[in-house]
Amino acid sequence: MASLFVVAAIVLVCWCGVFVVRGLLSTDELSAFLTRFPGDAPQLASTPDGIPAFVSWTHFLNAFFLVMIVRTALRVRGEKRAGGLWTSTRVKKRRMSLALWAHIAVDVLWLANGVVFVVLLFTSGHWARIVPVSWEVFPNALSALLQYLSLDWPTHRGWVNYNALQQLSYFAIVFIASPIAAVTGYRLSTFYPKGPAWQRALPDTLAKKLHFPTMLFFVAFVIAHVGLVFTTGILRNLNTMYGGADRVSWVGFAVFAATVVLMIIGWRTARRDDWIAKPASWTGDVRMMRK
Ligand code: HEM
Ligand code: HEM
Repeated sequence: MASLFVVAAIVLVCWCGVFVVRGLLSTDELSAFLTRFPGDAPQLASTPDGIPAFVSWTHFLNAFFLVMIVRTALRVRGEKRAGGLWTSTRVKKRRMSLALWAHIAVDVLWLANGVVFVVLLFTSGHWARIVPVSWEVFPNALSALLQYLSLDWPTHRGWVNYNALQQLSYFAIVFIASPIAAVTGYRLSTFYPKGPAWQRALPDTLAKKLHFPTMLFFVAFVIAHVGLVFTTGILRNLNTMYGGADRVSWVGFAVFAATVVLMIIGWRTARRDDWIAKPASWTGDVRMMRK
């Protein structure tokens, strides 16, 4: 009963919030602000339109690998006893559970995909879609935020121009969160060089403090991102990313659905140590532990 009351109170507060924001936006000052900063990310005249094929492919692979990374990370975090141990054949002291081996193996694939994405991003000119090119991105992001809060959402035109909030969040996930995940993960791994200078450069305690919250940031981003993709014209949005064209069509939806099936298969595979053991044995010695 009490929790029902809390939920009702939260809904009421949010609802009042919407009206407050709408009231504010109807004042002369704020409506002039919205006219001056409509919410779009400022663009260079040379920025190409559209979602090129390399973005579609790397975006799909990124989401697929990320699902496996999160699955294996949760195993690493929750595992009391390893189901199997991997030992390097070159450096005998290098040893880890199969779940952690799988986490790092997928990380390597994810990083390679990320490098391909970033290189093509800069050689194709598409970079200017997700990298801010003017300080005006900030007032525009505030404008887009106010429009979301007022429930009168900014027009979604992902094919031509992201809004400033989209651009900032895409920039943050690619150029801030991903490097943090990679560097702190490398620090925590057995591959990080030993010695006081390396420890001072990035203390393991700091890396540990950052690595897990970075995952929470990824998960929060994906929930908001996919939520908005679905609620701002699902068929058209999915077709821009998975169907290569800016029109309402079931093609993009069908491709997206197929990728979800692959993700479910990946999720299930990542919990099986007997399956992980096979590729792990190509790179070192594997010993299964008795349950
Ligand atoms: C599987 C669920 C996902 C769906 C359905 C999805 C859908 C989309 C769509 C439709 C766009 C085009 C922009 C738009 O219209 O808003 C987009 C762009 C983007 N998404 Fe996703 N996305 C997913 C997962 C992810 C994940 C896991 C990440 C990263 C962690 C991500 C990062 C991005 C980035 C960086 C862009 C901008 C790409 C560019 O133009 O270079 N997405 N996504
Ligand atoms: C190149 C990228 C990455 C590397 C090298 C890496 C490496 C590692 C290592 C070595 C551990 C074990 C830490 C320990 O023993 O305390 C670990 C744990 C973990 N990783 Fe990663 N990781 C990477 C990317 C990611 C990403 C992208 C995510 C999430 C989206 C993630 C989420 C986690 C989580 C949640 C744990 C468990 C942490 C804990 O116990 O608090 N990792 N990772």
